[in-house]
Amino acid sequence: MRNLFMIQTLYWTLRLSECGSTIDPWIEFKERFGKTYPSASEEHKRKTIFLNNLNKIVRFNEANRRTYELGLNELADLTSKEIPKGLTPYRKAPNFIGWRVLDQTPTVKFEATGVKLPNHVDWRDKGVVTPVKNQHNCLACYSFVAVDAIEIQYFMKTGKQIPLSQQQIIDCSRPEGNLGCKGGMVDWAYKYILKAGGVEKHEDYPFVLKKQECEFNASKIAVSLTNYGEIKNGSEVSLQEAVAFFGPISASISTDFAWNYYTGGIYDNPDCSTNVDHAILVVGYGTENNTDYWLVKNSYGESFGDKGYIKMARNKKNQCAIASYANFPIIGRWKPFSPKKEPNGRNETKRSSGRRMTSSRYN
Ligand SMILES: *[C@@H]1O[C@H](CO)[C@@H](O)[C@H](O)[C@H]1NC(C)=O
Ligand SMILES: *[C@@H]1O[C@H](CO)[C@@H](O)[C@H](O)[C@H]1NC(C)=O
Ligand SMILES: *[C@@H]1O[C@H](CO)[C@@H](O)[C@H](O)[C@H]1NC(C)=O
Ligand SMILES: *[C@@H]1O[C@H](CO)[C@@H](O)[C@H](O)[C@H]1NC(C)=O
Repeated sequence: MRNLFMIQTLYWTLRLSECGSTIDPWIEFKERFGKTYPSASEEHKRKTIFLNNLNKIVRFNEANRRTYELGLNELADLTSKEIPKGLTPYRKAPNFIGWRVLDQTPTVKFEATGVKLPNHVDWRDKGVVTPVKNQHNCLACYSFVAVDAIEIQYFMKTGKQIPLSQQQIIDCSRPEGNLGCKGGMVDWAYKYILKAGGVEKHEDYPFVLKKQECEFNASKIAVSLTNYGEIKNGSEVSLQEAVAFFGPISASISTDFAWNYYTGGIYDNPDCSTNVDHAILVVGYGTENNTDYWLVKNSYGESFGDKGYIKMARNKKNQCAIASYANFPIIGRWKPFSPKKEPNGRNETKRSSGRRMTSSRYN
């Protein structure tokens, strides 16, 4: 759906170019998102950044043959560098004693079995997807995504919706390699939760936008994990099968300016890097106007994208590395989740034919 605010942007552009402006986009922006600045010089700096972003957005939309559109959101007074992502640029975790314990519970590996897959999945339709969160300027997407995935799995398993604590993971998973509000990895968040024994409720350990001392209290654990699973690296059909039959899946992607200000259509960037810088939750997939897409939930509040969501190109050579770091939390006993494949093979989709038929746990 077209974002109203974007239409306003186009309207301003028109006014600005045709007859001089009576509406000031900066004032409109500040009012809409309740922006205030501590000083006149800070406001001046933010306004310059905003006008630069607005200009880039308008020029992007004017370019031909785009499959998606950009518009303003609450991030429009930030430089690209200031936009909160939150993946560490390196994956080497420090050694710590907990690894030994974890090594005894091997990670579940998931690979497509080749069953027939639905053409369209949107877990929001099932009412299990929890509200869009806002990580603000804390670079802890890894924690927001892990918590979202766990909340949703717990809801799907028990019918109970319990908002869980991002802050616990931010404060306490340093030994696993996470850097509080300066980045981390979703699998390290799952490893931490396994080691700690579980995660507290959001209300017991609320989000404070910065890292503090770890104040985890094991007697307040609300939800525990038994393990986590990893999707076969780079396999979009495996990610698709997991999204279809398991539920929303945590993943990491590479993002750019256009991604930050997407408002509608299907984000398709053939030049997207494979250096992932942001974690998101894949809550569905489908095909629109002959383009396959992933339905992605972000944690920048509802002003981002289409009410907090973005559709990203699917089956285009693992664009933006969306299937390169996909994983999922496991609550309770692990059971392979895909339906049994028909022995005559008629149940195979074109794309998945010839895949191995196992979804098993190994090593
Ligand atoms: C941990 O939580 C329990 C139960 O709410 C409480 O009785 C106890 O005082 C807490 N411990 C600390 C160290 O805060
Ligand atoms: C598909 O095309 C229609 C008609 O051009 C358009 O309104 C719609 O936004 C498009 N959908 C996507 C996801 O691009
Ligand atoms: C998946 O493979 C890519 C390319 O080899 C690699 O950079 C990435 O780290 C791998 N992902 C995981 C989770 O190991
Ligand atoms: C494919 O498998 C599903 C679930 O196992 C089954 O309900 C469906 O009838 C099968 N379709 C075909 C074409 O065999």
